[in-house]
Amino acid sequence: MNNKNLNVFFINNIKIYYTEKNRTIIDDLENLNFKIPHFCYHSKLSIAGNCRMCLIELKNSPKPLISCAMTLTNKMEIFSHSPLVKKARENILEFLLLNHPLDCPICDQGGECDLQDQALMYGTSKTRFFNFKRTIKNKNLGPIVKTVMTRCIHCTKCIRFANEIANVLDLGVLGRGYSSEIGTYIEKIFNSELSGNIIDICPVGALTNKPYAFVERNWELEQIKTIDFSDSFGNTVLASIKNNSTITKIQPMFCDLNHETFWISDKTRFNFESIFSKERLIKCQLNKIKINNWALLFKEILFIQYFQYHLLFQEFLKQKLNIIIGETLSIELLNILLLLEKKYSFISVYSLEKSNNEKDFETFFFINNLTQNLKLNSSTLILLIGINSRYENSILNIRLQQRYNKGNFKIFVINSLINLLIPYTSINSNSLIFKEILEGNHFLCQELIKAKNPLILYNHSLFLKKTDLNFFFNFLQKFKFNVLNLNYLNSSLVETNINYLATIKKFTLFNFKKTYGFFFFNVLFTNSLLNKFIELLLLKSKINIKNKFKFLLNFNHFEFFQSNKSFLKFYNINIVIDICGSSFYETKENYLTTENIIKTSSKIINQNNLKTYWKIIRQLYNLYSKHFLSFKIEFNQFQKNKFLNFLKLNYFPVANLNNFNLYYKKSFNNLIFSKLNKKIQYVKNYKLLMWLDDFFLGGKDFYSKKSKTLIECSKLSRLKNTNFNYIS
Ligand code: SF4
Ligand code: FES
Repeated sequence: MNNKNLNVFFINNIKIYYTEKNRTIIDDLENLNFKIPHFCYHSKLSIAGNCRMCLIELKNSPKPLISCAMTLTNKMEIFSHSPLVKKARENILEFLLLNHPLDCPICDQGGECDLQDQALMYGTSKTRFFNFKRTIKNKNLGPIVKTVMTRCIHCTKCIRFANEIANVLDLGVLGRGYSSEIGTYIEKIFNSELSGNIIDICPVGALTNKPYAFVERNWELEQIKTIDFSDSFGNTVLASIKNNSTITKIQPMFCDLNHETFWISDKTRFNFESIFSKERLIKCQLNKIKINNWALLFKEILFIQYFQYHLLFQEFLKQKLNIIIGETLSIELLNILLLLEKKYSFISVYSLEKSNNEKDFETFFFINNLTQNLKLNSSTLILLIGINSRYENSILNIRLQQRYNKGNFKIFVINSLINLLIPYTSINSNSLIFKEILEGNHFLCQELIKAKNPLILYNHSLFLKKTDLNFFFNFLQKFKFNVLNLNYLNSSLVETNINYLATIKKFTLFNFKKTYGFFFFNVLFTNSLLNKFIELLLLKSKINIKNKFKFLLNFNHFEFFQSNKSFLKFYNINIVIDICGSSFYETKENYLTTENIIKTSSKIINQNNLKTYWKIIRQLYNLYSKHFLSFKIEFNQFQKNKFLNFLKLNYFPVANLNNFNLYYKKSFNNLIFSKLNKKIQYVKNYKLLMWLDDFFLGGKDFYSKKSKTLIECSKLSRLKNTNFNYIS
């Protein structure tokens, strides 16, 4: 490019060319690695310009100017570290410190405090102010944020975050001048799923992490990159580790290029607590007797299997070993389980959720990346079907909100009445609405035709039946819908893995009868299907269970059914072996996200005695193969062909299960509506129900249920949202 066409500015007499216009000076200087001290500036929030710390000198300007509120113009000459600028910053800092308490040694922000850093550069060691410092009463903002309001420097970042990102108008400035203080006007908590982010953006120790107050100092921590497992997007986050053994906080990756992880939800921030919970199993146990030695445990399991084998052989019973998969399981584990199912007819893998085995939707296209800015910006309408984006993916909700704020964007929702914190038009929650739209009798038809690049986002489990799906295809074809704008959302990482990788049957009561043993993998104790089985037990319905002896291998981080001994008794489960494997943060495994991206978790804490689930299974079956010839299975061979048999979509793994790779299998095919069977059929009349009503504990995230902070948050939010005041 010809340099004459570029704009130019001078920073400390260095000539710099720039192309991007309408950017603030601080933005450009930060990009060039010129550090400008600032307190109230944040690249993702509006400009307040009230701390005055970012002053710079501009040639021919009589006074220094704030760089966060000025845009670059051609041939501007800026001085970022001149004597005038230095003097001005020193004076500003002296004012800020007039009322700031000298409690750095006991402040949790110590070591990562912007004010402390700037005081080191521009502070003086003498004071000229001998009056009393003012004090402000602390506020109760909820179980996550601890406040020491005397430390506040009134940068208003927390208020702007609450108003612009969290969309909760709870925080504001009370009083004027010397009496100004940040608060919630009336006494109430800061009620938002994103409330923890104000801890990260507060430049001083006014807002800190309440559950981890006085637990760590910044210099003791090591930061390691990993992924968030609380939703199906698997965003990148930073975990802070103390002494290689304890996680003390999870923060977003502060990277301007990757907006998706700039903010994180409270669930992402605190669900790691469950792996340090007192209830967490760290030793395997057989009928509650602790077993320290893996070899001994494998021997016990082998004996049980051997006993079962002979018992069944004697009685000629056609019984199966049922493997039931739960939440937060990696691709490696799912693959090894499916491989076992493929190899041995007596092993069946089931899921406790509805499966997609009647559906062939995914074979035609893969999910499109709705979080791409480009896509949202070029669209003027989005239709959310059966989705509560605020709870299912708060970051997606922020993006929708930001797009809405830019204008010329309409949001239509087919769902129960939900509070998305964005203005939207609720259409109906009944499935018959599709028929009405298809017949052209609904106002949405006009909107869809007029809209530019309309987007559709629907919940994955909505169209499980082929008949529903045909109807949906008709709907799409009628509006000449571009398939690239069609997106669906899985509710968790494991659901994504299952849906993309294989078809897994749903577990039924019938399977309960014909089984001699179970393997449960991260099965939630609150699962509705398991609860149904317990209810059946309470109703004493007659279930003819032939086999009087069953065992259950519970691969989990928590003891199986502590309070449901009768369940075990009724279903003839005599032996329960709790096998504690490595948790999400203790192993490096792969997960497929709802955007079809493979993400890898990191091994960030080390528990030597724990093993990864898939390694336990591999070891177990290697051991079997020594004793039972029919169990012969070689895991260390190149098994590409075997895997290809059951993987149905975009990736195939080439695995020796030590070194795992996934390769892209299918090229993208456009969905050709005309080739599909699209007979208009009878539409079932059902309500689209909101499946997730408790953000903190209600999702499919396996870990959040045992996090003490999230339990506290859930309690408070349920108290607020009573039946009489459901929509806040
Ligand atoms: S509490 Fe923190 S973020 Fe909020 S205004 Fe005060 S210093 Fe700024
Ligand atoms: S950062 Fe510019 S005025 Fe505060």
